Amino acid sequence: MNVLVTGGTGYIGSHTVVSLLENNHQVIVLDNLSNSSVDVIDRIHKICGKELIFYQGDVRDFALLQDIFSKHNIDAVMHFAGLKSVSESINNPIEYYENNVSGSLSLIKAMKEAGVFTLIFSSTATVYGNPATLPIHENMPTGNTSNPYGTSKYIVERILQDVAASDKRLSVVILRYFNPIGAHTSALIGELPNGIPNNLLPYICQVAMGKLQQLSVFGDDYPTADGSGVRDYIHVMDLADGHILAMNKHHQDSGVFIYNLGTGRGYSVFEIIKAFERVNKVKIPYCVTDRRTGDVAVCYADALYANQKLQWQTRFNLDDMLKDAWRWQQNLAREKSQ
Ligand code: WQD
Repeated sequence: MNVLVTGGTGYIGSHTVVSLLENNHQVIVLDNLSNSSVDVIDRIHKICGKELIFYQGDVRDFALLQDIFSKHNIDAVMHFAGLKSVSESINNPIEYYENNVSGSLSLIKAMKEAGVFTLIFSSTATVYGNPATLPIHENMPTGNTSNPYGTSKYIVERILQDVAASDKRLSVVILRYFNPIGAHTSALIGELPNGIPNNLLPYICQVAMGKLQQLSVFGDDYPTADGSGVRDYIHVMDLADGHILAMNKHHQDSGVFIYNLGTGRGYSVFEIIKAFERVNKVKIPYCVTDRRTGDVAVCYADALYANQKLQWQTRFNLDDMLKDAWRWQQNLAREKSQ
């Protein structure tokens, strides 16, 4: 199929583009490069030896979208383009609603006008807010979000549900990611945060590299086994596979289909630190600080629905995720030193 991938040079987008190309789909990438680099296109080519078509631009540019849809016979769209930092969203809510909500509205309008009716939307477990029970199932309440990033994703979910209810030609798949980490086994693509990383794994990698002095563990007084926060970490390549299976299953379907993409297993911050040190034979100095505002104690998925409906099974375990994350970080450093 011809697949338009918005945000296709970003962390999750680029890994999904590799999977799409390896599954013999034709890929058109639209990315404004606000949080990624154009050399990712070459890296993708190095990995799979396949060409793709790249447009530098923004999903809010309606005329550009019309141009892309007029030039390419798009069968499905995967929508990754958006801003994704919880802390940044608290300081810049307008930017987050502009990018994430207006961008998605622009895209769905252009899709309908062009007669393209299959959309895979990159959502997040953050829409569940602070879960009342665990593991988190797709039917659990959403919308009790605690930051503009999570709220923007929730709003887009609601918009897509309303638009799909009004037009039965649409097939919308909402994929709620838990905590994507790791990198492609080639170490040619991976997470490339701008500035000081907000997320745990890229921060740990930069401490391991000596680029950052020590990790701050945001609280060890949570009601968990060791007091630190628990999350459901999932390999980014497993996440990518989930997108392919969801598109294959629901292309030319009708309605809205929501899936958690998580492993169903939670690990605490201290467990991640210990595992990273063990598999990569490095030390991660850390100190314990106050909790981070907006963090929940525990968050992990009930992944059964995606397992059963999409025949989606995760291939990578935590050791794989931590090895691949580190290998990518080391490769980046090597490239920069050349
Ligand atoms: C994980 C754990 C922190 C950094 C967010 C978004 C989610 C998704 C992933 C986009 C928590 C602890 C972290 C640090 C720490 N984003 N931590 N020190 O907050 O679960 O999820 O990022 O798709 O939508 O909500 O991920 O990696 O920031 O935190 O102790 O320097 O690590 O408290 O327990 P989070 P995270």
